[in-house]
Amino acid sequence: MSNFPQMRLRRLRRTKAIRDMVGLAMPGPEKFVWPVFVVDGQNKNIPIATMPGQSRLSIDCLSTALEPVVKSGVGGVLVFGVLDDGKMASGDYAFDDNGLVQTAVRRIRERYPELLIMTDVCLCAYTDHGHCGKLDASGDVDNDATLDILGKVAVSHAKAGADCVAPSAMMDGQVENIRDALAAAGMQDVILMSYSTKFCSAFYGPFRDAASSSPAAGGRQTYQAPFNDPRQALRESFLDIDEGADILMVKPSLIYLDIICQLRSETDLPIAAYNVSGEYAMLHAYAEKGGGELRDLVRESVMALTRAGADIIITYWANQYNEIFRAE
Ligand code: PBG
Repeated sequence: MSNFPQMRLRRLRRTKAIRDMVGLAMPGPEKFVWPVFVVDGQNKNIPIATMPGQSRLSIDCLSTALEPVVKSGVGGVLVFGVLDDGKMASGDYAFDDNGLVQTAVRRIRERYPELLIMTDVCLCAYTDHGHCGKLDASGDVDNDATLDILGKVAVSHAKAGADCVAPSAMMDGQVENIRDALAAAGMQDVILMSYSTKFCSAFYGPFRDAASSSPAAGGRQTYQAPFNDPRQALRESFLDIDEGADILMVKPSLIYLDIICQLRSETDLPIAAYNVSGEYAMLHAYAEKGGGELRDLVRESVMALTRAGADIIITYWANQYNEIFRAE
């Protein structure tokens, strides 16, 4: 039985002041991380067709592009290296101390000492076959042989000055291995943000264009988490807690709010939501077709991540923080 007409929820919705007072606040810029794509060369700013507002940037251009983003208060950057030439079967370039990511990190650290620098630890952008690990003789990804390489990649990023390394290759044991490699290199203070529940998703398409990281043959089903197995998805994250992760991540985010929500209720680790390239492109496409205002679509979807329990929002909207999130 309802107690209408005494109880009326519309009282709490009558003015913006009361709606804002009783509701959750939009996350501030300090909660946002901007993923960036670094290419070789100078003076390169190559727009990514499927991701309006995002470009592949040479290190000098990235450094300039970060100026307004840092000024807007955005808390961090997640650096991806893009290699168009020079890919090899081994992907060893990923731990070259003078590689793209390592050089970019040093440059960003110099110019923006306060910015939280995160790096993606994976091989798919550097291997000629496009898989996230080394292949064995039969063409399968060789889990255990990949672990050592990922450890070296993480150490090289940390040595360059990354605050936080983020392994995304989805190899079993990668978090423990990287934790040990960092410790052995005397870098026990580096934060390890695991892509702990990373689904095998059709929503990474624009990213793979941007990073030239599509597998040449086959998909990533044998290492990324299946989207029809929610229990396994949670185990992926719990295992990474045991292996020494400091921060968990769910990726993609908007279509996996159930997983974010359950992790939030079952762990006290910080949780990052990776609002991936396909989710970004999807809102752009919908707005372009006249479905709604882009700004409203973004605000509503980011609030969904906050409501579900995400502490950190990794999103391509981060470089548009002021336009989208400031004032009304
Ligand atoms: C690397 C990696 C991917 C993304 C982040 N790190 C691609 C993939 O797994 O295929 C996707 C990010 C996005 O779509 O925005 N393994």
